[in-house]
Amino acid sequence: MNQNTKALLKACELAESRAGNKGEWVPSFHLAPVTGWMNDPNGLCEFNGVHHIFFQYSPFDTSHGMNYWGHFSTKNFVDIKYHKPALCSDEQFDCHGVYSGSALCDETGMNIFYTGNVLQSGEKGKEYDYLNTGREHNTVFVNSKDGLTFDGKTVVLKNSDYPKNCTCHVRDPKVWKENGKYYMLLGARRNDDVGEALLYSSENKLDWEYLNTITSNEKMGYMWECPDYFEIGENKYLSVSPQGIDADGYKYNNTYQSGYFKVTGSIKSNYSLSEFVEYDCGFDFYAPQTYVDSKGRRIMIAWFGLPDDNKPYDDPTKKDGWVHMLTFPRELTVNEKGILCQYPVEELKNLRYYTKKSIIDGYAKLSGLTEFDVKIDIAKQSDFTIRIRKDCILNYDMAKKLCTLSFGKSGEGRTSRSVEMEEIHEVCILCDTSSIEIFLNHGEKVFSSRFYPDKDTTGIIIENINGNLKYSNLRPIRILKAEV
Ligand code: FRU
Repeated sequence: MNQNTKALLKACELAESRAGNKGEWVPSFHLAPVTGWMNDPNGLCEFNGVHHIFFQYSPFDTSHGMNYWGHFSTKNFVDIKYHKPALCSDEQFDCHGVYSGSALCDETGMNIFYTGNVLQSGEKGKEYDYLNTGREHNTVFVNSKDGLTFDGKTVVLKNSDYPKNCTCHVRDPKVWKENGKYYMLLGARRNDDVGEALLYSSENKLDWEYLNTITSNEKMGYMWECPDYFEIGENKYLSVSPQGIDADGYKYNNTYQSGYFKVTGSIKSNYSLSEFVEYDCGFDFYAPQTYVDSKGRRIMIAWFGLPDDNKPYDDPTKKDGWVHMLTFPRELTVNEKGILCQYPVEELKNLRYYTKKSIIDGYAKLSGLTEFDVKIDIAKQSDFTIRIRKDCILNYDMAKKLCTLSFGKSGEGRTSRSVEMEEIHEVCILCDTSSIEIFLNHGEKVFSSRFYPDKDTTGIIIENINGNLKYSNLRPIRILKAEV
C-alpha cells in the first residue's frame, strides 16, 4: 500500500461515513453503492467458497469519476459483506481510474486484470484528443492471496502493444484459462470507428501475445466494451457491450447495447459470428460479466443502469446522494430450443416469505406487495395485461405477437419497450423498491428497468390470464460491513 492508496481509502471512508439517509428508493435485495455512483460489475468469481462481486465505484458524487473497485462478497447472495475498496487509482498507470476487468482464480490465488485509465493533459487551453493520442489504457495484473488485499500491480500491456489500427480505447480485460493456457479478451475501438475484441494468450499471466481480432461481418457499433467469452455445453458465445448502434425498430433503443454473438469455429483462429442478440429488452442494463461458480453454474451480473450522457430518462436517487445498482445474479442456461436463457439464481428462494399459490381464472388482484417475486404459468394463449404497482404495465398482444413494458410517471422518462414473441407461457417478475426484472418463458427474453413507484401504490393486477400463480414477499438481503 503506497501513500496514495492510504489517502484514497481514507477519502472513500470519509465520504461513506458522511453519506446521509439514502431515501425511499434504496433497494431491498439488489447491491447498490453506499454513496455516490456505481457502474459495471468487475472481477466476478467464486474464490474458496465465497463469491466476490467487485464494481466500478465513484463515491464522491453521483457521476462517473476516477473509479475505484468497490467490493462485496457473499456465500449465498443473501448475507453480504461489504469491504473497503479493493483497488484505487494509486499508481501513475491507473491515476484516472481503475477501470473494468475480471478475475481468474487458480492455485496462486485471485488474479485480477483491469484497465488503468490515464488521461494526458493537453496544451494549455486546448482540449486533449482522448481518442487518438491523449489517453493510456494499460492492462494491469494484480494477484491476491486472500481475495481481500491487493498489492503489487504490474502493467502487462500498454497502448503501444495493441494493434496499430486501434485508437487509445482498448480496455476491460476478461481472462480465462483453457488447457493450461491463459486467454484474454480486450474490447477495442478501431481508428476507422469499428468495434472489435482483441484476443491475447499467455503461459504465465505476465507475458501476453496477440492472437486474433474478433469482429462482426457487418459493423456493430464503433466500440465494444466489456467483452466476455463463455461456453455452455457445445454452445460458444462472445458477449460484448457495443456503443454506437442505431435503433432499429424494437431493437437497440437504449443509448448503448449489451448482447452476444453465437460463435461457430474458434475465436482463436477461424470463427464466424451469428447475428447480434440483445440480452435485455428493458431500459437499464449494461456491461454484464459472467463467471462459473463451484456448482458449475454460469452466473451473469450486469450494471442495472447505463451511462448518463444522452440518456433521455433519469434516476431521482441522485438527490439522495447515490445512483445505480447491479442486477440480481442470473444463471445462464441453454434451453431445448437452443435459446440462451437468463433466470434469477436459485438462492432467491432464501429471500421468500409468505408464499402463496393459486389458480387464476382470468383475473387476479394481489394487494399490498412491494418487494416480491411472482411466477405465472399461462395455460391458454391470449392477450394479457399485468399491472405492477399501478404504473408499470406488461402487455401481450397475440395478434401482433408483441410484448410491451411501459411506464407512466414512475418511469422518470422511461416510456415503453417492446419485444416480438411467438407465444408466452411463463412470466416471472422480480420487483424491488425501484426496479423490475421480468423473465419471459423462463428467461428467453428479459426486461430490466428501474422505476420509481409511489409508496402507496402496491400490488399487482393480472388481467386475462388463465393458469397457475405463485408469489412471495421478498425480505432484504443482509449487508454487513467487513471488519478492517
Ligand atoms: C463500461 C465502461 C468500461 C470502462 C468502465 C469505466 O460501462 O465504460 O468500458 O472500463 O465503464 O468505469
